[in-house]
Amino acid sequence: MTVETRPAQRTDADTLTAIAHAAKRSWRYPEEWIRLWANELTVTPDFIERNRVCGAQRSGQVVGFYALSGTGSTCELEHMWVAPEHSHVGIGAALFEHAVETARAEGASELRIASDPNAEGFYVKMGAERVGEIPSRPPGRTLPLLVLRLTGREPRRRRG
Ligand SMILES: CC(C)(COP(=O)(O)OP(=O)(O)OC[C@H]1O[C@@H](n2cnc3c(N)ncnc32)[C@H](O)[C@@H]1OP(=O)(O)O)[C@@H](O)C(=O)NCCC(=O)NCCS
Repeated sequence: MTVETRPAQRTDADTLTAIAHAAKRSWRYPEEWIRLWANELTVTPDFIERNRVCGAQRSGQVVGFYALSGTGSTCELEHMWVAPEHSHVGIGAALFEHAVETARAEGASELRIASDPNAEGFYVKMGAERVGEIPSRPPGRTLPLLVLRLTGREPRRRRG
């Protein structure tokens, strides 16, 4: 499937925020936790201006996006969300591959990802490796920390 990508604009902020919330809710977290994570799930116009934020479109509608932060050798995947009604058709993979190419073109040697536990299998399929875990919220919750190495070899999607 061909997925059209384009840089996000300040005016996309509300749409991207809605996609992030809907995608996170797809894992059926308690609403109390969704409220706790409101800042992380909110994309402001200023964030879009200051970071590399890229949207995926289908039929002219934004249906997913990613954001990269950091400069130098390490890039961080800050956001990676696909609207639930458009998941499982290849949009996440297309966005991830675009993020990898962007990070590599900027000279990064690794892409770091603090993954939602439910999304870890997706990143592993994309070639990332788990290197540890980091504390999250609520207290006691942790997130898998993954790294995709960008130098030395082409990133390879694991099949099957
Ligand atoms: C995780 C997410 C980004 C994947 O996007 P997607 O568009 O559904 O993924 P794709 O259709 O491109 O799938 C690519 C491959 O990954 C696999 N995959 C997708 N989601 C997966 C998951 N949660 N666990 C394991 N494998 C997964 C697919 O089966 C597919 O494999 P294939 O190439 O062998 O067919 C998306 O489901 C999402 O936004 N989820 C909710 C929010 C979230 O947790 N985002 C990540 C924050 S760190």
